[in-house]
Amino acid sequence: MAKGIIVYVTRTGNSRKLAEMTSRETGFPVHEIQDLVNRKGIVGWLNAGFQASTKKATPILEQPVQLTDLDTIILVYPIWASSVCPPIRTWLNQHKEELRNTQFGLLVSNLGSPGERARAAFEREFYPLKAFEVIREKETETEKLSIIKNFVKLLGL
Ligand SMILES: Cc1cc2nc3c(=O)[nH]c(=O)nc-3n(C[C@H](O)[C@H](O)[C@H](O)COP(=O)(O)O)c2cc1C
Repeated sequence: MAKGIIVYVTRTGNSRKLAEMTSRETGFPVHEIQDLVNRKGIVGWLNAGFQASTKKATPILEQPVQLTDLDTIILVYPIWASSVCPPIRTWLNQHKEELRNTQFGLLVSNLGSPGERARAAFEREFYPLKAFEVIREKETETEKLSIIKNFVKLLGL
């Protein structure tokens, strides 16, 4: 049986919901990365966009996690400025050694911009993706589930 984990970060809850839906489809546990930067208000929003577009790795908090012997890592995060969400960058950098020999899937939440730039940004900086999907906030629950089922299939799970 495949062994994996779903690692997510969220500012307003959409990515958490997607991570939990994906957990129900795969049986993998979810693991939240807490973003320690204050993202409130317009200043928080602008700073988030700036940090994303300038490839910052920002402070995070997480519970201890066992990552060795996993086949699959599923990342779930919001698209910020068509880029990698900064707390995920920190997490990937911190766990680089444990993440070798693992396949990666990326599921992003957004408002509707095409996802290809976010995919390319991730693959340029980190790992090739076995599966990638974009889920817009406005999709219905049925549409979200259908995209997730396809995503899980792409991962060979
Ligand atoms: C700083 C910032 C930049 C964003 N940039 C984009 C973007 O480039 N394209 C897009 O479609 N949505 C963008 N969004 C919207 C989020 O991706 C979207 O609201 C997402 O569903 C939020 O997920 P969350 O609830 O897990 O935080 C941005 C949001 C923020 C805060």
